[in-house]
Amino acid sequence: MLFFLDSANIKEIIYAIEKWKINGITTNPRHIAAAGLSMEKFMNEVKEIVKGTDITVSVEVNPYLQTSEEMISEAEKLASISENFVIKIPATEEGFIALKSLSEKGIKVNVTLVFSVVQALQAARLGAFYISPFIGWREERGEFNIDFIRNIVTAVKNYGYDSKILIAAVRNAKHIGEAALIGADIVTAGFQVYKKAFDNPFTNMGLDIFKKFWDQLKEKRR
Ligand code: E4P
Repeated sequence: MLFFLDSANIKEIIYAIEKWKINGITTNPRHIAAAGLSMEKFMNEVKEIVKGTDITVSVEVNPYLQTSEEMISEAEKLASISENFVIKIPATEEGFIALKSLSEKGIKVNVTLVFSVVQALQAARLGAFYISPFIGWREERGEFNIDFIRNIVTAVKNYGYDSKILIAAVRNAKHIGEAALIGADIVTAGFQVYKKAFDNPFTNMGLDIFKKFWDQLKEKRR
């Protein structure tokens, strides 16, 4: 399973690529605002970081765009900035019409804000590169059910579509584990989620136990 970083913080992105071998970056307007950057500044900086690698950066079209024509035009502009960019288009009827046209032109699309099997299937049928169900948003609204993402993975895999299922809004190690167990292709999570998930209280407890024995060994050598 691939690990993507969900962030627009340039320091975090560089750290995660260099130290964690992160496979891709996802962003949204919330992350870019949190990083204190404009869309343009973020895109110019990140494109240099990933240039010449196979690390994709998912960047979102303006959420105010309502028609497929508007989305297509903006997606084409964004895609021309970097070969690494995958364009995030919302899972709406107009978004799907835009997806059809963009995928026919060879532009990679990440269908975002996916909350149902039907939305995922339509994205797969029309050639989405990534399909992003948001696991955390359902849970935060008291509607979490692992079947939500399991059903999406099963449905898309049942028909052998090429689209990759990217579990988004991942909030903790449990979400990462669940995504892996149901056979999702990718997870995207924030910097602090990975930091916490790479550690475990039992690992630290084990280290404390071994330190005590290590000290005993040192005493015996004297
Ligand atoms: C990923 O593509 C999404 O932007 C993301 O996972 C949503 O996460 P957020 O809830 O942290 O904004």
